Amino acid sequence: MNKILIKNIGELLTGRNGSLEILHDKELLLSEGKIESVGKADEFSEEGREVIDAGNSLVTPGLIDPHTHLVFFGTREDEFEMRIKGASYMEIANAGGGIRKSVKMLREASEDDLVKHSLPYLESMLNHGTTTVEVKSGYGLSLKDELKSLRALKRLNEMQKVDLVPTFLGAHEFPDEYRGAHSTDREKYIDLIINEMIPAVVEEGLAEFCDIFTEEGVFTVAESERILTAAADAGLGLKLHAEEFEPIGGAELAAKVNAVSADHLVAVSDEGIRSLKEADVTPVLLPGTTFFLGSDRYAPARKMIDAGLRPAVATDFNPGSSMTESLQIILTIACLKLKLTPLEAFEAVTLNAAKALNRSNSIGSLEPGMKSDIVIWNADNHKQIPYHYGVNNVRMVIKGGEMVFSFSG
Ligand code: NIG
Ligand code: FE
Repeated sequence: MNKILIKNIGELLTGRNGSLEILHDKELLLSEGKIESVGKADEFSEEGREVIDAGNSLVTPGLIDPHTHLVFFGTREDEFEMRIKGASYMEIANAGGGIRKSVKMLREASEDDLVKHSLPYLESMLNHGTTTVEVKSGYGLSLKDELKSLRALKRLNEMQKVDLVPTFLGAHEFPDEYRGAHSTDREKYIDLIINEMIPAVVEEGLAEFCDIFTEEGVFTVAESERILTAAADAGLGLKLHAEEFEPIGGAELAAKVNAVSADHLVAVSDEGIRSLKEADVTPVLLPGTTFFLGSDRYAPARKMIDAGLRPAVATDFNPGSSMTESLQIILTIACLKLKLTPLEAFEAVTLNAAKALNRSNSIGSLEPGMKSDIVIWNADNHKQIPYHYGVNNVRMVIKGGEMVFSFSG
């Protein structure tokens, strides 16, 4: 693999001791898909190196999206319109829309269909500067359809450039066939997850994490603990959709089971925040979801930061509650609605997102030894990215030392 020299970097964001530092007039030397060295302007010789001129612009780590539901089939724009007219997300879900509608659509699709359907979304993510994406299953909700989703994901990971981190989310909802009049139906679905799905997923090496929708009306805290404990025993890392609508104790559970992240947290209590801090659980905030659901209630990000937490931010890309591949618009919403500074917002989708995926040693920063996943922006400084919103500010994406996208607009 060639050595690449990125010259004339006007502003460089790179990690130091858990925060991003703003450096000026730098250059980057890449080799073997990794950052070899960060130098001052004109420090390195151009000889024998492929030279990329950054033209005095902003250079950052490739963005990391630590929470998506990218493996779905078919869209749900009708629900978007229903919400505009006043229906809530939970009302739509209880009326058979929402996740269960996506489950119906995904069950009709083949593994090949899922691969084909997902590819353009991944390409769009890459072109918007995202180089690593966590992806959950969770629209199958049967052994066969969850495995189909995760197998499609495995193929997708091998056939395109974005790195995918697979998460098993069989506990996303109770499927229709387990929603009869019998209270034992719930138990049967939970048994299916624990006794059949988790072992099969682990046996085939299809997931790194197990996630669950712990929420009023979905999985209770006690049910969540059973499932997560079984997943941890099987060797999976843990994540939770916690306190998205009601503070039922999902954050405290995340701390108790040593989850890597607790996600959403719109309704988290002060006690919940303290538990997350004590157990070093990374909050993953999804302000695009609050925005897209038309709600005014955003996660208390500043309270979390004041408590010493370092929140990550993600798109939550899914056909119901957040239909965007772009972390750039999410940065804008994170600044305006979570009151993150532009630098905190960048930390949320680089360093902190890497932590939420257990990958702090390889991605999220541009220090020597880290992967050379890099974005060169059409901007002079990082503040211009959330500020110049609703457009693609990316000039070039470098993934593992290879130029994979170059803007030609
Ligand atoms: O993270 N909250 C639950 N799951 C997804 C929504 C999935 C859907 O509506 O299809 C979320 O927002
Ligand atoms: Fe989600």
